[in-house]
Amino acid sequence: MVLGDDRLPTLTAARVSLRWLELADVPALFTLFSDPEVARFWSSPAMTALGQAQRLLAQIHNGYARGDLLQWGIEHDGAIIGTCTLSHVEVDHRRAEVGFALARNHWGQGLAREAVSRLLGFAFGPLELHRVEADVDPRNARSLGLLASLGFRREGLLRERWHVAGEICDAVFLGLLARDFEAHSAV
Ligand SMILES: CC(C)(COP(=O)(O)OP(=O)(O)OC[C@H]1O[C@@H](n2cnc3c(N)ncnc32)[C@H](O)[C@@H]1OP(=O)(O)O)[C@@H](O)C(=O)NCCC(=O)NCCS
Repeated sequence: MVLGDDRLPTLTAARVSLRWLELADVPALFTLFSDPEVARFWSSPAMTALGQAQRLLAQIHNGYARGDLLQWGIEHDGAIIGTCTLSHVEVDHRRAEVGFALARNHWGQGLAREAVSRLLGFAFGPLELHRVEADVDPRNARSLGLLASLGFRREGLLRERWHVAGEICDAVFLGLLARDFEAHSAV
C-alpha cells in the first residue's frame, strides 16, 4: 500500500480530478446526497440535514485513518460534483468495493466513468489490489452500464440484501480483476 500521508493523493484525469474532501466541501456533499434521485439506489436514504453531511465527512476521515475506506471528492471546473470510493479495503486479500455518485446535472457526459476509471488505475496500480467488487441494485441501469463499460462482470444476484427507507432490494454482485482491467484498458 502507498497510503502513508495524512490525506489521500489527488488523482487527475482529463476532465475531473479526485481529491481529499474537507470541511469546506460539506455543503457540496449535502447537495449531492440530499438529491432523492442520486440516493434512489444508495444504501441509505437521501440526506435531509446538513449535519448528516458533516457526519459523512467525519466517517470519510475516520475510514481513511483506519485504512478501510478511501473516498475521494470528484472535482470538475473547480467544484465538487460527486464522490468515488473504495470501501471494505482488505489489504490481506488485495480487494475492495467500488462506489460512486455524481450530481444529477452532470450525468450523461461520461464524467463518472472517467473518475471511476482513474480510481481503478490507482487501485490496481499503486494500491496493488487484485480484485474490485461492486454491489448494485438491479434497477440501477446507469451504474450497471458504467461498470460494464469498464469490464466488470456479473457474478451473482443476492436476493433481498438491502433494507432502505422501507424497501427491500436485491443486489447484483460484480467483480473486476486486475488482469481484466488491464485487458480492457488495452482495447
Ligand atoms: C451511476 C452514475 C454515477 C452514472 O452517471 P453517468 O453520467 O450516467 O455515467 P457515465 O459517466 O458512465 O456516463 C455515461 C453517459 O455519458 C455519455 N457520454 C458522453 N460523453 C461521454 C464520454 N466522453 N465518455 C463516456 N460516456 C460519455 C454516454 O453516452 C452515457 O450517456 P447515456 O446515459 O445517455 O447513455 C449516476 O447515475 C449517479 O450518480 N447515480 C446515483 C448514485 C448511484 O446510484 N451510484 C451507484 C451505486 S452502486
